[in-house]
Amino acid sequence: MFEIVAKESLAPVLTKFVIRSPFIARKRKAGHFVILRVDDHGERIPLTIVDSDAESGTITLIVQTIGKTTKLLSLKEKGDTLLDVAGPLGNPTPIENLGTVVCIGGGVGTAEIFPIVKALKEAGNRVVTIIGARNKDLVILEREISEVSDTLIIATEDGSRGLKGLVTDALSDYIQSNGHIGAVYAVGPIPMMRAVSNFTKPFDLKTFVSLNPLMMDGTGMCGACRVTVGGETKFACVDGPEFEGHMVDFDELIARNRAYADLEKQSLERFERELAEGGLIHG
Ligand SMILES: Cc1cc2nc3c(=O)[nH]c(=O)nc-3n(C[C@H](O)[C@H](O)[C@H](O)COP(=O)(O)OP(=O)(O)OC[C@H]3O[C@@H](n4cnc5c(N)ncnc54)[C@H](O)[C@@H]3O)c2cc1C
Ligand code: FES
Repeated sequence: MFEIVAKESLAPVLTKFVIRSPFIARKRKAGHFVILRVDDHGERIPLTIVDSDAESGTITLIVQTIGKTTKLLSLKEKGDTLLDVAGPLGNPTPIENLGTVVCIGGGVGTAEIFPIVKALKEAGNRVVTIIGARNKDLVILEREISEVSDTLIIATEDGSRGLKGLVTDALSDYIQSNGHIGAVYAVGPIPMMRAVSNFTKPFDLKTFVSLNPLMMDGTGMCGACRVTVGGETKFACVDGPEFEGHMVDFDELIARNRAYADLEKQSLERFERELAEGGLIHG
């Protein structure tokens, strides 16, 4: 069992959990994720390890409440336990000193890009980070990210904070007024990662995206996380989750992630009904 040692609401539907898991805390690197089960009726869900503290034996996860399992997790409190937390899984992000790099996080992807920003900074890069959100209330980790970035640019869709527009607008402004960029790292909703990849392609600017297909076992056995990259079949859990954005078949990824949308909606609705009635909360 894995104890929740701290819980904090960061924004509407975004919750931070600090979980006791000494082995993972010692081993994890930027880009790694865990697969957890809340209880023995629960589905397995992959979540990025946002941070860790080897001394206290804890890892930090930031979770967007989007469906049944993330809702169930959001109801857990400090002192509660989770049934399984397996990891660290996936490959660490390729980190090297490339001079100036741009890191882009959109939505909960801001949490997922944080360990990459930190690792790139530690490797000696000049790190420019762009955070994108729909509005100012959804901007998260601003202080933490600014501490490990040389430049932080915030872009909100409604203009309530920072630049008005999308992360690609901020990236375009930055590229036009600055010099060479070694690489771009983007984590966020699939349309955002696709837009960033489309934008950087004509500049031949190396772009890494962190793919979020459906996952089950996280060990390359089930095939749920199959993606096509450069015309080849890859499994995001063991070959990724990061890939060269210019090579990714985003249309296929979107179609595969939508395959169970109706069932996921029904599952969330049933869960919320049962929760409201105070009855069984599994299924
Ligand atoms: C490597 C990786 C790292 C991730 N890191 C984070 C993170 O740090 N924080 C965070 O909030 N989310 C993260 N996700 C996404 C998270 O796993 C899903 O939001 C979660 O599984 C949804 O479960 P649910 O039961 O609440 O929703 P569901 O009802 O199952 O689905 C709701 C929506 O989430 C998508 N989804 C469902 N299951 C998965 C899955 N296993 N993987 C990816 N997408 C899924 C569906 O396409 C659907 O649109 C990550 C995904 C991957 C693959
Ligand atoms: S999650 Fe099963 S093969 Fe990747």
